[in-house]
Amino acid sequence: MKINVATGKIEKVKTDGAIILCFDDEKPGKIAERVDKALGGMIARLIKRGDFKPKPGVVHVLYPEGRIAAERLLLVGLGKQSEFTLNRLRQAAGKAAVALRSAGAKEIAVVADELDLDPEELAQALTEGCVLGLYRFLKYKTNEENDRKQDVQALTMLTEATASVKAMQRGVSVGTIIADSTIMARDMVSSPPVDMTPAIVATKAREIAREFGLKLQVLERNHMEKLGMGGILGVSSGSAQPPKFIILEYRKGGKKPFIALVGKTITFDSGGISIKPAENMDRMKDDMSGGAAVLGALRTAAGLKLPLNIVGLLPATENMPGGRAYKPGDVLRTMSGKTIEILNTDAEGRLILSDALTYACRYKPAVIVDIATLTGACSIALGTEATGMLGTSSVFKQKLREAGEKTDERVWELPLWEEYYDQIKSDIADMKNTGGRAGGTITASALLSKFVQKYPWVHLDIAATAWTDKDRPYTPKGATGIGMRLFTQFLRDYAKEGK
Ligand code: BES
Ligand code: MN
Ligand code: ZN
Repeated sequence: MKINVATGKIEKVKTDGAIILCFDDEKPGKIAERVDKALGGMIARLIKRGDFKPKPGVVHVLYPEGRIAAERLLLVGLGKQSEFTLNRLRQAAGKAAVALRSAGAKEIAVVADELDLDPEELAQALTEGCVLGLYRFLKYKTNEENDRKQDVQALTMLTEATASVKAMQRGVSVGTIIADSTIMARDMVSSPPVDMTPAIVATKAREIAREFGLKLQVLERNHMEKLGMGGILGVSSGSAQPPKFIILEYRKGGKKPFIALVGKTITFDSGGISIKPAENMDRMKDDMSGGAAVLGALRTAAGLKLPLNIVGLLPATENMPGGRAYKPGDVLRTMSGKTIEILNTDAEGRLILSDALTYACRYKPAVIVDIATLTGACSIALGTEATGMLGTSSVFKQKLREAGEKTDERVWELPLWEEYYDQIKSDIADMKNTGGRAGGTITASALLSKFVQKYPWVHLDIAATAWTDKDRPYTPKGATGIGMRLFTQFLRDYAKEGK
């Protein structure tokens, strides 16, 4: 979609659909009032009759029939002015754009001058809302070309404030990089596992590295053997697909210490020998959502030229049963030297992460943040509205909490008290890979914490947030791309702080 910023009045713009944002307050805004006048009071009558309530995300299409230049006028509610957030704006933009696409609009325009917002932030939010809301995964539809004909091709962001144009253009380009990286992550997660094997993830990482000037290294199995990465090697042993340990470095931070981002990249989780039930097993293609978020975050950091040093680690493998598969009862020796007794081969995420976290420590990082579709228990604890957060650094937990509020990729902390560690004690090894049903999210991260040495560390469990079963205003049903915008906000804020 082409997005451009233009100056002018919304009544004068020739477009398939003009979007006007409406607060749910006594008086409509000045622009809405002006447009209403041109329409002979149509909007006021609609509101008065109760046919259009400007609640958050509520839309209504009007046909001005020549009274203003636009073919369609789309009213979208923002809710109460006093409750306004950037997230409400992204949601309104997403809803409005989708409604106009359904109505057949190809070129749309939006005006939001009346919002009391920094023009750059405004334009970024509108861009993200529209682009992410309009996202569809069509690669496997054989009439894709036909479906693409219904896409919205162009968005004009209109302003009457000439002085804001430059800032709005900046916001559009920031929003575009962020939305595109989120879409990349969603596409990767939605892809069938046969088309998103560890090798294909590595190829994707190579493409991104080339385009954005990142340093890439992919460790093959023999290299992992030399490093003693018994965690990822054990998990991959049942799969015909060779594992890949993907390392991406972005270095634009001078002498600053690295930030290490680690993403669980299980390209398909069958459960292994402790095989999962058939129902919904297809969903386990999303078990590489953490890796996709990390790759997206590095893409965005490079695209925005953030003054930071970042390393992204993607331990990539399938978890499959097979004649060579690792088994319950096995003991794996991890790269750290610590041993893990396997009680359930379906608790594989923590095993590949143990090696990746150990590898991250080589960078002596300022912080390690890992992101993983780690435990079904997390959806029992928090439902689908929050990502679970645990870790050792209250400073970085707070930063991620704030980034989560801003992006609406919210995180919620669970405790990591020492009493929980009893649940992962093993009779024969240093620890065991499951701690029973109670507190499953916590005991999984208790295991992870054994591999981060003294480095500040935060763990994000996205098992319940990586996928949505319902359409959301700018997150259609399917892969959400969660973590990408959260990381980007965290990194941008962190870069600003360091200045
Ligand atoms: N990838 C799953 C976690 C998951 C489950 C993500 C459902 C999304 C939806 C993970 O590898 C797993 O299987 N975890 C087990 C751990 C258990 C065996 C201790 C779980 O949550 O059941
Ligand atoms: Mn599993
Ligand atoms: Zn898994």
